[in-house]
Amino acid sequence: MDAGLESLYREVILDHYKNPRGHGVIEDADAEAEGQNPLCGDEVSIYVEFGEDGETIDEVKFSGRGCAISQAATSMLMEMTKGRTADEVAALDKEELLAEIGVPLTPVRLKCAMLGLTTLKVALHKAKGTPLPEGLAGFDELDLS
Ligand code: FES
Repeated sequence: MDAGLESLYREVILDHYKNPRGHGVIEDADAEAEGQNPLCGDEVSIYVEFGEDGETIDEVKFSGRGCAISQAATSMLMEMTKGRTADEVAALDKEELLAEIGVPLTPVRLKCAMLGLTTLKVALHKAKGTPLPEGLAGFDELDLS
């Protein structure tokens, strides 16, 4: 990748990390889940509120702590999923999020990046019965509840 482009992506990641979008808690959320990356103990909780149709994500927030990639990727995810339906997000390809992150990731870093997405899919699954990624898309080492 072009070095200038890569540094631009890195700046965007850092900005999401420092100024996370959708950071917070939704009390009495319609859907929620917690996820932890056991490799490092980092965790995120995700909260979803549906619109009147009971399907469209009206509000989505997250709390937690972790490395820059896990927190920035979850922040990006909040922007990507607001306004979409539970079914659409359940089917959201991880590549879409990885394209947003933009920089190549090692397998360990990939787990960081997937923590929020997988946790969100678990939250939707619990509330709506939407399908989970197959074998959690190879991320079954994440601890989810
Ligand atoms: Fe823990 Fe990235 S080092 S999620």
